[in-house]
Amino acid sequence: MPAPSSAVSSAAFAPPPPAARPGQPLAAVDTPALLLDLDAFERNLDRMQAAAEASGVRLRPHAKAHKCPDVARAQLARGAVGICCQKASEALPFLQAGIGDILVSNQLASPAKAAWLAQWARHARIAVCVDDAAQVDALSAAADAAGSTLGVLVEIDIGQGRCGVADADAALRLIERIAPHAGLDFLGLQAYHGGLQHLRGCAQRRAQALAAAERAGRVVAALERAGVRCATVTGGGTGSVEFDLESGVYTEVQPGSYAFMDRDYADNERGEALRFEHALFVATAVMSTAAGTHAVVDAGLKSLALDSGLPAVWPPGGALRYLQANDEHGLVGAEGGAPLPPLGSVLRLVPGHCDPTFNLHDEIVGWRGDTVECVWPVAARGLAR
Ligand SMILES: Cc1ncc(COP(=O)(O)O)c(C=O)c1O
Repeated sequence: MPAPSSAVSSAAFAPPPPAARPGQPLAAVDTPALLLDLDAFERNLDRMQAAAEASGVRLRPHAKAHKCPDVARAQLARGAVGICCQKASEALPFLQAGIGDILVSNQLASPAKAAWLAQWARHARIAVCVDDAAQVDALSAAADAAGSTLGVLVEIDIGQGRCGVADADAALRLIERIAPHAGLDFLGLQAYHGGLQHLRGCAQRRAQALAAAERAGRVVAALERAGVRCATVTGGGTGSVEFDLESGVYTEVQPGSYAFMDRDYADNERGEALRFEHALFVATAVMSTAAGTHAVVDAGLKSLALDSGLPAVWPPGGALRYLQANDEHGLVGAEGGAPLPPLGSVLRLVPGHCDPTFNLHDEIVGWRGDTVECVWPVAARGLAR
């Protein structure tokens, strides 16, 4: 073997082939890989779109979940009015893909980010949230400098205690601050309560979601009495969306995970009305059975987000359990003396939390039947600024 030399051209080291190609058998996908069951995914999109339309509420799905313009296109093709992003930089690949209506459903952490949005707003409809006068001033300066218009939503706190002003008086002060600026267009309110999305009991979640929506409704009514109309009241996530639609307060909902359904969301007890299917999996191969007590798979912390707990082995009801993750290894055990999966076999895992799991992968491998149909880049992966 020749000694390593800086004289060897990098072209000598050919990269491995892609993990998957359209038209390939699903079984030939290299692991670890993020898999999307396109039939289940499309049924989830159709259900959510139909439920929003039946309630007369606009659907603006959250792209923070998947970070993938191809997924957003499938949602827009079904009638979604636009998308949400959570960070300014996250919006860029969607804009570049031609998606022209984006709400950054968050406050910006610096005036520099307002300048990016204002530049992009010369060519697309872009809105952003505020809960402080300094943010309004930064947005206004950026819009003036770019010669563009930014939509602005005042975020109100409806019980989560994260971002958002506390009451209608504080909201009104911000709206009055927005009004004189030619480059800012007050659109309405954002009212999102993340804390209730994973309350397990359906009745408890419904009661809290309706109480949160009522709180938003009281702010809307108080603003109306002060002569301010909120054309948009936006919020809601996969855990609360059926109740947000029922509330009559929201004009727009912004769920994200519904399209994929991770293990944590599946642990919620759901109402009959709006159920979603698991569409997202991580394919992982057994790389060692030497220990005899467990199988070792090739998906660990770098392929699966564990902030919401361990993944489940698919299909449910089987004897295999994902027990522990190391950086690049996962330990899988078998309950009740069931056989361990053999070396080289491939398991499908349902990730604990879809959003940060997407953020670990370059591509989504979409399949139908036994065949890979598409390979979609996770284009906003890592864009956290
Ligand atoms: C502002 C905002 N809107 C909507 C969502 C909904 O996301 P999901 O449906 O994935 O829970 C989130 C999730 O964190 C959020 O922060």
